[in-house]
Amino acid sequence: MNTRSLLTTSVSRRLLRPVADLVDQRIERRMRAADAAGRERLRDLAETVKRQQLTLDLLLGSSGRGLSRVVSPGPLSRLHDEVAELAGDREAAVRNVAAAYRLLVGLESLGAGRIAGGTMNICGKLGTIPLLDPPNDEVLEIGTLYGMFSAGLVRMLERDGRSPSVTIVDPFAGVQLQPGTPRRSDPSGTPVDERAVRTNLALAGPAGVAARIQRGFSEDPGTRAAVSDRRYGVIVVDGDHSAEGVAKDLQWAEEIAAPGGIVVLDDFGDPKWPGIEEALDKHLAGDTRLTWLGKASLSAFLRAS
Ligand SMILES: C[S@@+](CC[C@H](N)C(=O)[O-])C[C@H]1O[C@@H](n2cnc3c(N)ncnc32)[C@H](O)[C@@H]1O
Repeated sequence: MNTRSLLTTSVSRRLLRPVADLVDQRIERRMRAADAAGRERLRDLAETVKRQQLTLDLLLGSSGRGLSRVVSPGPLSRLHDEVAELAGDREAAVRNVAAAYRLLVGLESLGAGRIAGGTMNICGKLGTIPLLDPPNDEVLEIGTLYGMFSAGLVRMLERDGRSPSVTIVDPFAGVQLQPGTPRRSDPSGTPVDERAVRTNLALAGPAGVAARIQRGFSEDPGTRAAVSDRRYGVIVVDGDHSAEGVAKDLQWAEEIAAPGGIVVLDDFGDPKWPGIEEALDKHLAGDTRLTWLGKASLSAFLRAS
């Protein structure tokens, strides 16, 4: 009888059962220990991920600004395409969008209030304007809320070697004013006033501190007279979002844009503000110095002749 046959006889099986049982028990114990260690490691990992998520939420989440600053790959890649198309330079587009994103997070972390709007729209505006090579460094923002976008634009233009000089027009009514929209306090909890704007502009250094702030409605003749003393290389239209309000601001932009000046129309194509597209379509169908350059996220870009 060979060894194999010897081990498989019923007598030897009976004799060996206690040994086999012992081996089975040991294997089971080891497997249970391994399972418990694996579960423990998974629990630790889940705790770490939860803590990291919590930390990221505090830095980038929607609390205190209404909208999250967390980025998704689809919208980011679309924004790269749009800015690249407007700028004619993909590498510069990707670089500027990244710089704009870091600036946005930095400004909202240090400033009073927030920048209005979605992350891609803000990065699109901040990233594209310098790449369109405005004809001079005079910037006008119509409707500023907390002045933080202008602070960001100052920094983006300076990064491009320019010396921006900013003029801002806003009624500073304590809250954001929009026709047909109820007055309510801002998600940031900060009152919409000139103090917050000054604080935020100061974050952009000397050019921010030197900004000219004109309190009032952009359609008021007094407001217009006070700031129509120059031709602007960049005009950001982001005040009254109604069709009538946008139409008036575009008409004003016709008069005060420098030759080659860039006009940015914010929230264009946003279903929340249909009047913006309506007003631009009507405006471009008439006699105008403005030509359509393109769109990045929810902002339209135009150039004055
Ligand atoms: C959407 S917020 C501006 C956001 C800002 N540009 C930013 O990027 O953070 C609109 C601002 O325009 C102001 N506004 C409303 N009607 C206006 C008008 N007729 N002229 C100037 N500003 C106006 C609002 O009170 C508010 O402060």
